[in-house]
Amino acid sequence: MFVFLTLGFAFGELPRGYPSVPITGIDGALLDMPLIGLGTWQYNDSVAEAALLSALQHGYRHVDTANNYKNQAGVGNALAKSGLKRTEFFVTTKVPGNLNASATEQALDQDLKLLQLDYVDLMLIHWPGSDPVTRRGQWETLEKWAQGTGEGKKARAIGISHYCRTHVEEIFSFSPNAKIAVNQNQYHVGMGTDTQKRLHDKAYMESKGILFEAYSSLCGPCDPPDNTALISGPLVTSIGKKYNKTGAQVALRWIVQQGIPVIPKASDSQYQADNFNLFDFYLSGVDMLSLSSATTPAETGTAQEPDDAQDCDFEPDFLF
Ligand SMILES: *[C@@H]1O[C@H](CO)[C@@H](O)[C@H](O)[C@H]1NC(C)=O
Ligand SMILES: *[C@@H]1O[C@H](CO)[C@@H](O)[C@H](O)[C@H]1NC(C)=O
Ligand SMILES: *[C@@H]1O[C@H](CO)[C@@H](O)[C@H](O)[C@H]1NC(C)=O
Repeated sequence: MFVFLTLGFAFGELPRGYPSVPITGIDGALLDMPLIGLGTWQYNDSVAEAALLSALQHGYRHVDTANNYKNQAGVGNALAKSGLKRTEFFVTTKVPGNLNASATEQALDQDLKLLQLDYVDLMLIHWPGSDPVTRRGQWETLEKWAQGTGEGKKARAIGISHYCRTHVEEIFSFSPNAKIAVNQNQYHVGMGTDTQKRLHDKAYMESKGILFEAYSSLCGPCDPPDNTALISGPLVTSIGKKYNKTGAQVALRWIVQQGIPVIPKASDSQYQADNFNLFDFYLSGVDMLSLSSATTPAETGTAQEPDDAQDCDFEPDFLF
């Protein structure tokens, strides 16, 4: 495993050296996806706007939001106020799962409108719909919408979240050349040896060239004590001492060192700076192995959200 360091060229003009990984664009060409971005789950418009403005000052050029987070207007305001050129930042957003084709198209258009953007870099279906007909209609609508008409692409790349292997195989059954760029799922220290089911078939996704992306990379929404284990817990803290890094930096570095993007949420300026500062050290093989071997904190459900492992058992249609 290694980190791809690419220098921004052509379409995506990320700052030189901004750590990124290649993903498959809607037209089949590769594009750069930043390895570090700001997450915004549970932020309202004003908190999202302030947090993103601060993060952009720290050098972040990637933000992750969703229709269901109800903060895209705040995200859009921050991007507009930043003065950055559109090609200088990367925006990921999501359309709710389980919508029929017309409702999907409406939500997709609403995302762009709220973000005040002509296109997003990555548009995900937030979770798989409850029946094959809906799932197919949603994917086909997204594909068509992203291509745009006349005025150009509305999404440079498209993907999924919470999808399992069966859901992805289903897409390939009706669209063998589907350009599925990313599958965004829970991933953090404690899950390095987890079952493929609980990892949402990470190995399968990677074998198909679908980039696995991590959310809850610090187990933030996990129930106590798991929600602090990757910040101040003994494993990450003791490793961090060797590198003069915080526990959270070790937990995030373990992920980006595998070439997997992270989107930790932070509104505090110092935490934003710490979370961004992951690329001036390299975890040794021994330390990577002990982090990969950890079995806690486990992939877990919370009071707010059912166990993600159930995504593959049931037809999920719950709110995020
Ligand atoms: C947004 O969230 C913050 C922090 O929880 C809160 O102080 C603020 O009142 C909220 N704003 C609105 C408009 O709800
Ligand atoms: C699609 O879903 C929307 C929202 O639930 C609903 O209003 C509309 O009637 C549905 N359209 C079709 C064709 O079923
Ligand atoms: C350790 O990290 C802190 C915070 O980044 C920094 O201020 C300090 O100079 C570092 N110490 C050493 C010995 O590198």
